[in-house]
Amino acid sequence: MMMTNPSPLTPHASPESPVIAIDGPSASGKGTVAQLVAQALGFHYLDSGALYRLLALAAGRHGVSFDDEEGLARLAEGLAIRFEGSEVWLDGEPVGDAIRTEECGNGASRIAAYPRVRAALLDLQRAFHKAPGLVADGRDMGSVVFPGAMLKIFLTASAEVRADRRYKQLMEKGMHANINQILHDIRQRDERDSARSVAPLQKCADASLLDTSSLTIVEAVDEVLARFKQVRVR
Ligand code: CDP
Repeated sequence: MMMTNPSPLTPHASPESPVIAIDGPSASGKGTVAQLVAQALGFHYLDSGALYRLLALAAGRHGVSFDDEEGLARLAEGLAIRFEGSEVWLDGEPVGDAIRTEECGNGASRIAAYPRVRAALLDLQRAFHKAPGLVADGRDMGSVVFPGAMLKIFLTASAEVRADRRYKQLMEKGMHANINQILHDIRQRDERDSARSVAPLQKCADASLLDTSSLTIVEAVDEVLARFKQVRVR
């Protein structure tokens, strides 16, 4: 399915089609939690980080330099991608594993700092909002992409816990991983994502904090569902 242009006035907070925005730092578990919350509610799911990763991969393949903001923004506007379950295609080729490498994640973080790249991906992200609702995860879902989201969660965990989770995730996929390097990358990525001038990683005032350092995935999912239930009946 190619993305079509969404309505410019998407009612993110509409009770018929609510949005749950889950933002947070690298490897906080927000992707897993967001997917399970979407599944439990029968909602659609947007992994916005995958779009930045796809763009980083496409740039490498199309020979567009990570220093070329204009070229990257043009590439973003014409990105030929398709999501289906947990698989994702770029230019007709499955790239689910290719976009999960640390290299691609670091590239995504670099190009995500460009305002024109972020603007070029806005419509694509908003097009994921359809009835009966959407769970979107990323860095700026609550602050920029879906500011009217019914529930905004800032999901985090300590850098050490996040490095450990990312390490296990890569080992499970049979990928090479070094725990010290991962911890170093996570700290560097946190710093870059928080320091950038456009859509920096930060908890917005109307988001509720969820620290998952000592929570299991199931406990974190239950907590998000409980908070959603509270705001939905208001
Ligand atoms: O899995 P991880 O949290 O490491 O990364 P991701 O969510 O797949 O996103 C990869 C990179 O894209 C992040 O380091 C961010 O720099 C960027 N990103 C962003 O700027 N805004 C978003 N909404 C999502 C991701």
